[in-house]
Amino acid sequence: MKKTKILGTGSYVPKKVLTNEDLSRIVDTDNEWIYSRTGIKERRMVAEGETGSDLAYHSSLKAMEAAHTAADQLDMIIVATLTPEKRLPATACLLQDKLKAKNACVYDINVACSGFVYGLSIADQYIKTESMNRILVVGTEVMTKILNWKDRSTCVLFGDGSGAAVLGPTDQSERVLLSTHLFSNGSLYHLLEIPAGGTGTEWTPDAFERGDHLVKMKGKEVFREAVESMSSACEIALQKANLTIPDIDVFIPHQANSRIIYAIAKRLHFPEEKIFINVDKYGNTSGASIPIALDEAVRQGKIKSGHKVLIATFGAGFAWGSALIQW
Ligand code: ACO
Repeated sequence: MKKTKILGTGSYVPKKVLTNEDLSRIVDTDNEWIYSRTGIKERRMVAEGETGSDLAYHSSLKAMEAAHTAADQLDMIIVATLTPEKRLPATACLLQDKLKAKNACVYDINVACSGFVYGLSIADQYIKTESMNRILVVGTEVMTKILNWKDRSTCVLFGDGSGAAVLGPTDQSERVLLSTHLFSNGSLYHLLEIPAGGTGTEWTPDAFERGDHLVKMKGKEVFREAVESMSSACEIALQKANLTIPDIDVFIPHQANSRIIYAIAKRLHFPEEKIFINVDKYGNTSGASIPIALDEAVRQGKIKSGHKVLIATFGAGFAWGSALIQW
C-alpha cells in the first residue's frame, strides 16, 4: 500500500478587511469585547460578485503550483463548504470549470468547519489504495453571506477565505499523512444551525422574519463541546500513533476562537509556542480555517522537514476530528 503525501498547499483570502472597529458601526459591539472573548481583530469579506469558487480557484492554483501539478493531472476534486455558491450544482463543478481540470471527478462535502479534515481522510483512502493519483482537497467559505448582521453574538466571529492541498502517493516518509480520526454527534445539531432553507424547512416570510435563514448558535454550549471534542480527538490521534505531546512540533487547531484554542492547550499541557494561530487576522473561516492555517504555517517556515504536525477540527453537526502529518 502507498502512503499519502501532501504535495503542495495554497490559500487565498479576499482583499477586503473588516475590522472590529468596522463592526462596531454595524452592531452594538466594540473591539475590547470581541478581542478579549475571541482573539479576533479582523476578518476578510468577499467583494461584490466574488464567490466561493473564485476564492477556491486562487487557493487551488497556489496549491497546484507548489505541488507541480497541472489541472489536467487532477483525478478528483473535493470541495468542503457549508456556503455552496448555488444549491445546484456543487461548488466543485464551478471550480472544475474555472481550473479546466477536465479529467477530474468532483463533488462537495458539507461537514461544516471539519470539512477539510474529512476531505483529507476521504482522499487518503483513494490514494493509499492507488485508485487515484492526484486529488485536490479545498475548503472554501463565504461566511459573510450567511450571517445575521443584527446578531452581535455570531456576526463578529466569522470571515471568508479558502485553503487547498494537493495529495498524491509516495513510498517515502516526507510530508506524509499518518492518520485521520473522524467523529460526529448529530443529536446536538440544534446548537449550531441554519434552521430554514432546506427542503424540510423552507424559506417562508415568518422564517425570514426570525432570521432562520441565517446562522444561529448557542455560543456557550458550542464552546464547551469544541474544547471537549478537539481535546479528545487529539488524545486519540496521539494514543493510536504511540506519541505524546512532546513529540508534536506544531499544533494546528481549528481557528474558531483563541479562548477555545488555549483551553485545549491547557487541558493537554500543550506549550503555547507550538500552536499556530491566525484567527486574529481572519476570524473563523469554517471549512477554510485548517487549510489556510496549514498553508501559512508551511509558507512561514513554522513547519519544517521532519516535524510532526497535529491538526484538530470541530464544527456544526457536531462533527470533529484530528489528523497527524509527518512533514
Ligand atoms: N459585543 C458586545 N457584547 C456582546 C456581543 C458582542 N459582539 N455578543 C454578545 N454580547 C453580550 C451578550 O449579549 C451578553 O450580554 P448580557 O450579559 O447583557 O446578556 C454578554 O455579552 C455575554 O454573552 P455570552 O454569550 O455569555 O458571552 P460569552 O462569554 O459566552 O462569549 C462567545 C460569547 C464569544 C460567542 C462564546 O460563547 C464563544 O466563543 N463560543 C464559541 C463560538 C464558536 O467559536 N463557534 C464556532 C465553533 S464551531 C465552528 O467553527 C462552526
